[in-house]
This record gives sequence, C-alpha cells and structure tokens, in this order.
Amino acid sequence: MTARNIVLVGFMGTGKSTVGSLLAERLDWKFRDSDAVLEEEQQSRIADLFQQHGEAYFRTLESKTLAHILEGERQVVATGGGAVLAESNRTCMLQNGLVVALTASAETIIARVSSDTNRPLLQGNVEERVNTLLEQRKSSYDFAHTVIDTTELSTNEIVELILAQVVK
Ligand code: S3P
Repeated sequence: MTARNIVLVGFMGTGKSTVGSLLAERLDWKFRDSDAVLEEEQQSRIADLFQQHGEAYFRTLESKTLAHILEGERQVVATGGGAVLAESNRTCMLQNGLVVALTASAETIIARVSSDTNRPLLQGNVEERVNTLLEQRKSSYDFAHTVIDTTELSTNEIVELILAQVVK
C-alpha cells in the first residue's frame, strides 16, 4: 500500500513511540508523537491537563492535534492510546494513512507502564486499571488496517513487519 502517513494506534505501553521513531528513521519520514505535540502546544503535561481540566477537555485537544498532524504527509504518527475512542478520529486516521494497531498481552503492558507517572488513567492500582481499560477497549483497535501483536517481538521485528506493507 502507498501511504501518505503511517498511524500507530494501540493501548498504552504497546510500544507506539519506540516503534514509531525507529520506523520513521528507516523510512526517512518525520516522526510525530501526538501526545508530545499536544504537551508542547499546551505547555503542560498530560497528567496536569487531566487534573486541571478533566478528560473531556484533553480529548477535545487530542482530536484537534491529531487532525492537524494528519494534514501533513510522510510522517509516522504515534497516537495516544485513547485517540481511537472518537469515531471522527478513527475516520481521520483511516483517510490519511495506513493505520497499524499494536497490541500486547496485559502482563507485558503492566510491566511496561508500571513506573509511569504521566498516565493519569493508570493512577492507583496499575494492574487493575490496565485490566479494566483493556476490557473496555477490547474492540477499539480493530478498525486499523492491520494489527500486530508485539508481545513476543523486538522493536526491529515490528518495524520490519510494518515496512513490508508499505511502498514508500
Ligand atoms: C491515554 C493514553 C496516553 C495519553 C493519555 C490517555 C489513553 O497515551 O494520551 O494519558 O486514554 O489510553 P499513550 O498511549 O502514549 O500512553
């Protein structure tokens, strides 16, 4: 497939940013992390935006940031884990690139996110929060053009699998 952009979606801790930056390097495309762009634009950490304004406010900003990023091309875009929840975001992603969903087992995700302080939805008992959200979102990433289970794969292997689907 010839893609304008590659959009990585997936639950927190599935490796979107790590995979995305390596993939962008390999393609000689720009890497954009939508959470990082949003933090830069707002001059505020995501955890603080949630705390001060609530999740709905964050989601509105997230949609605007994503739509703006996706106006560009030759970019690998790592999205926030909840960006898939709004139908308008899903449509925008599908229209502007190859959408790749990264998945991982609950154990892998828990191990990867357990020391993180900038993920407001995982505050408290991380294991419980991850399991609850995974259950709530169990079909949320199915809209992607392709789904890759990263549990047993290295970053390089994931990048190779994605590259195999893209014609630059
Ligand atoms: C969220 C995931 C986070 C970030 C915010 C909300 C979610 O991004 O956008 O904390 O709802 O899953 P990562 O998937 O990059 O952690």
